[in-house]
This record gives sequence, structure tokens and C-alpha cells, in this order.
Amino acid sequence: MSTASPLTIITISLIIASGLRVLMNVSILASPYLWRRNSSLPQSGRSRKLSLISRPCDGVSSQNPGLLHCASAWNQVTDDSVFSLEEVTTSLLLQPSLKEDMSVFCDVQQAAPVAVFKLTQDFNNDQFPNKVNLGVGAYRTDEGKPWVLPVVKKVEKLIVHDDRLNHEYLPILGLTEFRSSSSKIVLGDGSPAIREDRVGGVQCLGGTGALKIGAEFLRRFYNGNNNTKTPVYVSAPTWENHNAVFNSAGFEDICPERSIFVLHACAHNPTGTDPTQEQWKQIAEVMMRRKLFAFFDSAYQGFASGNLDKDAWAVRYFVSMGIEMFCAQSFSKNFGLYNERVGNLTIVARDADNLKRVLSQMEKIVRTTWSNPPSQGARIVAVTLNSPELFSEWKDNVKTMADRVLRMRAQLKAKLQALGTPGTWDHITDQIGMFSFTGLNSKQVEYMVKEKHIYLMASGRINMCGLTSKNIDYVAESIHEAVTKAKRAECIHGVLRIYKWVKKS
Ligand SMILES: Cc1ncc(COP(=O)(O)O)c(C=O)c1O
Repeated sequence: MSTASPLTIITISLIIASGLRVLMNVSILASPYLWRRNSSLPQSGRSRKLSLISRPCDGVSSQNPGLLHCASAWNQVTDDSVFSLEEVTTSLLLQPSLKEDMSVFCDVQQAAPVAVFKLTQDFNNDQFPNKVNLGVGAYRTDEGKPWVLPVVKKVEKLIVHDDRLNHEYLPILGLTEFRSSSSKIVLGDGSPAIREDRVGGVQCLGGTGALKIGAEFLRRFYNGNNNTKTPVYVSAPTWENHNAVFNSAGFEDICPERSIFVLHACAHNPTGTDPTQEQWKQIAEVMMRRKLFAFFDSAYQGFASGNLDKDAWAVRYFVSMGIEMFCAQSFSKNFGLYNERVGNLTIVARDADNLKRVLSQMEKIVRTTWSNPPSQGARIVAVTLNSPELFSEWKDNVKTMADRVLRMRAQLKAKLQALGTPGTWDHITDQIGMFSFTGLNSKQVEYMVKEKHIYLMASGRINMCGLTSKNIDYVAESIHEAVTKAKRAECIHGVLRIYKWVKKS
């Protein structure tokens, strides 16, 4: 039997491949698709005509390219938005062509860097041996190192050796046992809302993901449909991403009716100043009376006081008053799972029927956002929360972190007082959580960064975990220098007492 030479085989393959390519191009254009402008894409300028997407249509076959005829059967599409094959090809030919040497991205504007990450980058580039990073919101040990919680290490090993686990997609709403145990730790074991089956959870990508999914839902379904006019109130100051998340969901602010309030469940970021229980009761009363929507952000449960129940007091009080709400939970800080992106959106509805409909819409939102959540972090949290021994070990780990922060607060205050640094420094120990709002003004912050190589946010916020027994003297002396050399902000104590509310801009 004669065999073809390698050259012949290659030549024949190339001919077949190019033939197939031509056929594919033809069949893509001639295939039974409707072409319509994608209304979610920008419609102006160069991108207008390129924003075309195809939709298959039952009524069209290759023998029947009557696209407009088919459009009438497709009732959500107007004639105006449907294009024939001829129109598509003509419009593509009419595109103003780019000059040869121009990038298709030439109109893209440079975005400003995210301040807190820029600060870390500047810190990393700094060659000064005694530099200190008090910027980024992550726990550090007394050696200034990241900490993998011992309980997390243990659970990771259990997961690795569990042959029942695999990498199949999770359900869209996430790992069931993760969702239910997350809601349980924030609402409490004996929560009446859980007993009455009116609590649901959506596994999200960190606390940010939970805020985003919640915001998206509220924009689509709260106070009317697609209601970008509902005002959203955030505290001033607040975590800078609150504004960005609600803006990106499309909210504008207009009038106060049925406004949405973003409430830090505990350890307010950046001030570390929480309302007292009495103040929370007043807030709840006003919110009920004015029919305002409570969107809790719980990013530091356990981190504030070292006690999970104490840190969830406000959320549980609102639930006990029968208030419907969302609560975005982050496990980044209290599990040290920053890069695993573990969060949960707990929904407390009036009854099981309302909850069911809300969850069905959440499923749609998640499907078009990240489709299915990742599993590793959620498994770690779920395994830990569902085992009494691991749960108790985790609580000890959280307390270790919270206690270190409390120690650093006490030491920093004592050192500033011993140095006779002008001003009062009680707020350092009055505040709780990962951050302290020092009260340093922008000039003093600049002095700290430029002269002392101590990196902190422009607002004067410092991460207490960035302080260690080795660097605390240097930091206290530097604050003393900054305060005595650059005048301290006059009104700081007014700001620190309790933040005010502003409509997000
Ligand atoms: C108040 C607040 N909410 C939400 C988050 C987001 O947490 P995650 O990293 O889990 O998205 C943070 C993180 O810094 C935060 O401080």
C-alpha cells in the first residue's frame, strides 16, 4: 500500500483548513441569527455600529433569510433594532477605519489608582529600612507578617484529604451549608427569623460582592423597577468603596422617600466609632417610622470586640424589631481569607414567600455577574462553622487578632501621652476594630509619609495591625513630631464623636 509523503499530507491539510475557514465565515454570517444592536453597549461614535450581537431565531432557516419577518415573532425586539445580514455587512464596511498605527484602545482614559493599593505599592518601593505600612486593611502579626489562622490551616488539610470533594460548579447561589451557617453567625443561633424560614443567603465574592449583588437587586426591584432615583445614604466618612459600588449599580440621589441606608454593623471603617446600643435603638426606630431600608455591612464580626455576638448586636436588634434587611458579610478579615473572596449576602424578609421570590431574582443577578461562586473559601468557612470544636478554635483565633489590636491601641495611646503629644488621645482606645482614625490632618499625614516613611491613608486612618512592639516607639515619636511640626486639625473630636450621614455622591 502506497503512503502519502509528509509534504502532501501538510498541503492537503492546509487546503482543507482554509476551505473550512471560508465555509465557517460564510455560515456564521448566513446562519439563522438575528443581528441586533446591543442596547447595553455604548451607542455613540465609533462603537455604535460595532455593537451588534446575534440572537438565534426559531423562524429563520438558511432557506428563509427573511430576518425582519422573523423579528415579528420575537416580541421583545423592535424592527428598529433588528438588522438584516446585508445591513450588517454594509454597516461594517462603512466603519470609519482606524489609522494603521492607532490602537483600538486609543480612546480609553487612564483611571486613577485605588488609594489604599497605591499606598502599599509606594511602601514596597520605599528602600528605607524602618518603613512602616499602616495603610492596607489586613491583619499582621507582631512580627509584621500576614497570619494564616491555625484553624484555617487545619481545615484546608481536611479539605485536601476529603475524596468526596471535587471541582464541579457550585449552585448559582453558592454552597448551601456555607450560606446557612453564615446567616446563623450574624443573626444568632436562636434567631426567630431563621426559625420562621425567612432568612436566605447568597454566597458572594467577599463583602464587596455581597454589597454589589445587594445593590444590583435594590436598583432592579426595590421601590419600583430599575429605580436609580432612590437615594442611598452612607456615613461620612465611610469605606470609600461604598460610594463606588452603589454608583456602579446606577443609583443617583434625588429624594429621601424609602431611602437606602448603608450601616456598618460594627467597627466602622474608617473611624472605628460605632453607635452605642441606645443610639442603634434610635436609628432603628427612625428607620421603621420613615420606612427606610437597612443594608448592613458586616466586614469585621469578631474583630471589633473579640466576641461574635457582641459585634452582631445591632443586626440582631434590627431583626428582633421585625425589620426586613440585607446584610453583606465578609469573611476576609475574621477568617484571614482575603484572597479567597468569601462573602455572603444575608437576606431577612418578612416571610418565606417574599424570601423565595427575592432569591429567585438573586439567582438571575448572580448568573450574569459571576455565574457560580468559587468553592475553596466557602468550604473552609462552612466546615469551621459547622463543627463545634473547629468553631470554638476559630473564635479563639479571632480573639487573638482582636486582642492584639486592643493591646496596640492601649500602647499607642500611652506612648503619645508619655511624650506629651498635644491634644487628647482617648479616641485611640475608644475606637474599635482594625482601624483608628488618628485625627492627623493632611499636612501631618504628608509629613509621616514623606519624612518618616510611615504609610497611612490621607484621611489619617491607620491600620492598628500595622503596629508591632518593634515599630510602635518609632510610630509614636513620628506622630509626636508630625503634630508638633504641622498644626493638628481643630475640629477632629467633633468628627470622631459620631459620623454624620450624607447622601452618596
Ligand atoms: C466596611 C467594609 N465593607 C466591606 C469590605 C469588603 O471586604 P471584602 O474584602 O471581603 O470584599 C471592607 C474591606 O475592607 C470594609 O472595610
